[in-house]
Amino acid sequence: MKTFKDKTVYIIGGSSGIGLSVARLLVREQAVVVIFARRQRVLDYAVELIKKTAGNANNISAMRLDATDYAQVSMVMREALDKFGAPDLLVNCAGRALPDYFENISCDQFNETMKVNFSGVWHVIKELVPAMKRNGGHIVNVSSVGGYIGLFGYTDYCASKFAVIGFSEALRSELKFFNIGISVICPPDTDTPGFANENIFKPEETKMISGNIKPVSPEFVARKLLRGVKKKKFLILPGFSVVLSNRLKGILPGLMDFILNRSLAGVAKVKKI
Ligand SMILES: NC(=O)c1ccc[n+]([C@@H]2O[C@H](COP(=O)([O-])OP(=O)(O)OC[C@H]3O[C@@H](n4cnc5c(N)ncnc54)[C@H](OP(=O)(O)O)[C@@H]3O)[C@@H](O)[C@H]2O)c1
Repeated sequence: MKTFKDKTVYIIGGSSGIGLSVARLLVREQAVVVIFARRQRVLDYAVELIKKTAGNANNISAMRLDATDYAQVSMVMREALDKFGAPDLLVNCAGRALPDYFENISCDQFNETMKVNFSGVWHVIKELVPAMKRNGGHIVNVSSVGGYIGLFGYTDYCASKFAVIGFSEALRSELKFFNIGISVICPPDTDTPGFANENIFKPEETKMISGNIKPVSPEFVARKLLRGVKKKKFLILPGFSVVLSNRLKGILPGLMDFILNRSLAGVAKVKKI
């Protein structure tokens, strides 16, 4: 995909944060963009905002969708395919993180996190692949740094984001035959409404380990995402620190463990454990 002009793009979770930034960039590039999310009010606000900042653009639409509900995904996607045609680009961006100690995370929370962050991705792709196979296209699944490093306080979240990477890798081989490419993006902390909410729940140790690292902007992540699609990259790593941590984990996992253990030892010292 060299240009997004006139391409049809579906963005699940496109009403806020990273998804909203991707939508804004694509509308400016004259793609035909459809954003999906649960809350109508937030969708309406997002459409208004995009229209306002893109000179009253009419290439943006919104549809309500709860990606965790397969029957609903099936119905809404049928409607979307009728109205807009198969997407050339699908971005699966819906997700959430509610960090806590493992022992505090209920089985209900675990199941819900898996549903939003992983089953939702599965549901949407399952419904759209038959239509996308006709002309080919590209799919981007949003994972996280927590999709390749196990982070303190994120047991349910990391499980769901590791799943997104494993699923994408396996599906990639199958969809190659149909000219459908797949990318996974692993954003670091990103300054979004979702991240602000996540911060409320972070255990003290998680805050100490992440220190004073400044979150990146959702626009930065969105730009990297679109550049990654143009370059047909499988793994999109937005920013130097993400590239470094990913390479360390892959090439020198022992050193990565050493760094993580050192930060934990620092926490233990402060907490006098
Ligand atoms: N922000 C970060 O620091 C960070 C870092 C790494 C990875 N990520 C990942 O990046 C993605 C976007 O995060 P964000 O921070 O931009 O989040 P955000 O600001 O909370 O936006 C999340 C979007 O997903 C939608 N959504 C949530 N649950 C949904 C569901 N069941 N069905 C359909 N839509 C749903 C939300 O709208 P409704 O609530 O109205 O449905 C909203 O549009 C997530 O997958 C997140 O895990 C974020």
